[in-house]
Formats: sequence, C-alpha cells, structure tokens
Amino acid sequence: MLEVKNLKFRYNGFEVNASLNVNKGEILTLLGPNGCGKTTLLRCIYGILNPKTPCVYLDGKDVHSMDLRERAKKMGYVPQTHHPGFPYTVLEFVVMGRASQISTFESPGSEDYRIALEALKLVGIENLADKPYTQISGGQLQLALIARALVQNPRAILFDEPTAHLDFKNQVKVLEMIRRITAEKKVATILTLHDPNLAGMYSDKIALIKGGKIHAVGEPEEVLTENELSQVYEISIKVINADSFRFVIPVLNELKNH
Ligand SMILES: Nc1ncnc2c1ncn2[C@@H]1O[C@H](COP(=O)(O)OP(=O)(O)OP(=O)(O)O)[C@@H](O)[C@H]1O
Ligand SMILES: [Mg+2]
Repeated sequence: MLEVKNLKFRYNGFEVNASLNVNKGEILTLLGPNGCGKTTLLRCIYGILNPKTPCVYLDGKDVHSMDLRERAKKMGYVPQTHHPGFPYTVLEFVVMGRASQISTFESPGSEDYRIALEALKLVGIENLADKPYTQISGGQLQLALIARALVQNPRAILFDEPTAHLDFKNQVKVLEMIRRITAEKKVATILTLHDPNLAGMYSDKIALIKGGKIHAVGEPEEVLTENELSQVYEISIKVINADSFRFVIPVLNELKNH
C-alpha cells in the first residue's frame, strides 16, 4: 500500500496539506482546478520536492529515505511536462527506464531492449522506436514517458495528467492500459485528470483537491456529486445518471454570467 500521512509542503504563499491511501491494484485520481496543488502533491510523493518530515510510505517503508536507485525500482513518475534534451531514439529513451534494474556499470542488454520494445507496443508507438524522441509529437512523447515508467516495473506509479496531450481514442486507450497494468501487476496508482467523466470511469477512488487540501475523498459516486463538484470548481454543475454512467456537465447559463 502507498500511504501519504500528513504531507505538508509550502511554496511562497501556497501550502499543500494531504493524507491519502492507495492500495495495490487500485487507482486514486486527484481532481481539482488549475493551481490547486495536484502536481505539487505528486512531486512531494515522489520526492522531487522534499517535505520536511517523513510522510510517504510504500509497504510501510519511508520512500524519501530510500536512495534514488531503490526508489526508482519501487516508484515510477510520469511528469505533466517534459522537455526533450539529447536526441535519443524513442527506444533508447524508454530503455533508460531500466536503469534502476541493472547494475551501475552495466549497459542495458538485449533483455532490456526487448522489455522496452514490448512497452512501446503496449502504448502503441513501436513504429517510432528508431525516431529521435526530440522529433515526435506531444502526445507521442507522453506515450513514450508512460512506456519509460512501465519498464521500471514499479510497485507504485504516479501519472500527472497522462491524457493531457492525447486524442479522444488515445485518452481512453491509455486509461484502459493504466487500469489493466494497475490490476494485473498490482500497482498502487495515483493519477491526475481534468475530466471528471474520465475520472469517474477509471478511478477506484477520487480525491477532490481545493487550495492545496483534500476537499473530499471516496468512491466516484460519493465524490462526483453536484454539491462537491460545484464547491470545488465554483460553477454550477449537473450530474446526470444514465445506466451505470454519471455524466458531469457544467450548467451553461451560469457560465455565461461569469
Ligand atoms: N516552483 C514553484 N514555485 C512557487 N510556486 C509554485 C511553483 N510551482 C507551482 N507553484 C504554485 O503552487 C500552486 C500549485 O501548483 P500545481 O502545479 O501543483 O497545481 P496543479 O493542481 O498541478 O495545476 P494544473 O492543473 O494547472 O496542472 C500554484 O498556485 C502554483 O502557482
Ligand atoms: Mg499540474
């Protein structure tokens, strides 16, 4: 289990304060307006930002006290933005995700390349394997970042807006894939999304975030209510139940007056 206990982190004038639990095989989605602290929270969990006291535990072990290599074996992170540097091929870029699995002086071997190619197939961009990753589209780069996290074979993965640059089909494809990997490999998954409908379809639990704090957390049907969502997004919201789906839509008349 991935546990976040009383995580506190402060930028000038902005504070994140959260406690969360995610079981292996479960998806927790962070949902909330721009600037509410989702990325900050993920960066604190992964340890790119350092809260002052221990607050993140994976199977009971303090994640921030692990060395970089051990942490990379256990936890994957797919950032919201990434600026390609050196023009590695897409395959080489994904193979770098294997670094934590091989010893310091070893180069990646044929098995690492096989695993990387398999991950590229899984995300559907194996045709780009030999292309410089500085020359692929934003959505393709996002898929490559996901593949790079998958080859680490981690126990927990944090995905920051994994659907942000993806087309309609790929959004669903990537979320289906995340759901399958989470269940099959028993990964504790945290993701951030902006679409409450996708969050409702793919999350076991949703945490609504407002102003750096958890406003509500629970199963989608407990959290995706007109009342909670309109408090968090500060617009009127309608929730329509149809079969097993809940459609969350903004009330347009209200928007015109904003
Ligand atoms: N490096 C930084 N230094 C100071 N303040 C920052 C920094 N990065 C983010 N912030 C502030 O922290 C707050 C939370 O930002 P964060 O990126 O976590 O939001 P978010 O929920 O991920 O938003 P979005 O949905 O737009 O990605 C914002 O008010 C932002 O301005
Ligand atoms: Mg963000």
